[in-house]
Amino acid sequence: MIVCSKCRFGGLSSFKALSLGLMGLIAWVDLARAGLPLHAERSSPFDLTVTGRLEGVPAGTARYVRWADLRALPTHRLVLDGEFVKGEQVMTVVYLSDVWNALPKAKGADTVLATCTDGYTSVYTQPFMAENRPFVILEINGAGPDAWPPPGITYNPGPYVIFVSTKVASTVGTLLDVGHKRPWGVAAIELANFDERYAAIHSGRWSRLSGRASEGRQIWINSCASCHQGPGGVFGGTKSDRPFEVLAAHAGYNQAYFKRYVRDPQGVVAGAKMEAHPHYSEGQLDALIAFITAEPGS
Ligand code: HEC
Repeated sequence: MIVCSKCRFGGLSSFKALSLGLMGLIAWVDLARAGLPLHAERSSPFDLTVTGRLEGVPAGTARYVRWADLRALPTHRLVLDGEFVKGEQVMTVVYLSDVWNALPKAKGADTVLATCTDGYTSVYTQPFMAENRPFVILEINGAGPDAWPPPGITYNPGPYVIFVSTKVASTVGTLLDVGHKRPWGVAAIELANFDERYAAIHSGRWSRLSGRASEGRQIWINSCASCHQGPGGVFGGTKSDRPFEVLAAHAGYNQAYFKRYVRDPQGVVAGAKMEAHPHYSEGQLDALIAFITAEPGS
């Protein structure tokens, strides 16, 4: 189990792209021809589990993609400075959109849901992939996950790391919580239908939200849901065992505590495992409260 918070990725912006060849051009390679083989059986701990809307695969059935097959897709070399280890590290990466293009998707698939070995999750919609160009790290200094952790770090980021960088897409600099789009320990992806997986927070009490509650829903999906499941079992991580009802009680009746906890959990409870969100504005915290309590629009 990886117990560390993902937020260590958040503050690192000195990430340099090494353009060995014209990355933009290479990205246009037609991957439809180079489809990823899906295996019914796991062959190694470094296989990526793929579930969800896969063409020709019965619902609820997992398939496995091998590291070597991902490595055979068009890859790119990037230099990551001070990320996993101090100093420059050469990364071999494949764009998540190229993985997406090489998978046989069934009707309705429009989103990648990534799940980590410790129950952390991240969501990548198609527009997010197109705009922010997330990529999967396959090698660090030429060494694959079978040789990880790389020298100098104490935790193992394998089997896969998904990452975003301003050097690849400038829009990454505008993300509220960039760390939530940089999960490590990614072991599985689901090809999902966004509306289906998040239906419970778009229906019932959540069907006609106020403007700020809708804004809070976006923050919830992109940040809080990394560790928290939503109401009605809506998709989210399992790193937090706090039921949504407990969060809703704080948001409804104990707003000062809620805000303090979201901004600085360790300041409220020593040893809290939740990551801090000190950069959230009052408005963003109010939006989260409005979403969690399902504040209706007028
Ligand atoms: C990295 C994982 C992680 C993320 C991201 C996260 N939480 Fe948590 N949260 C936890 C865990 C774990 C707990 C259980 C208490 C603890 O160890 O901090 C928790 C507990 C809480 C609590 C309950 C505190 C209590 O006293 O019971 C609230 C409220 C909360 N989270 C709100 C949020 C909101 C809102 C967001 C999004 C802005 C969020 N969390 C994002 C992991 C996370």
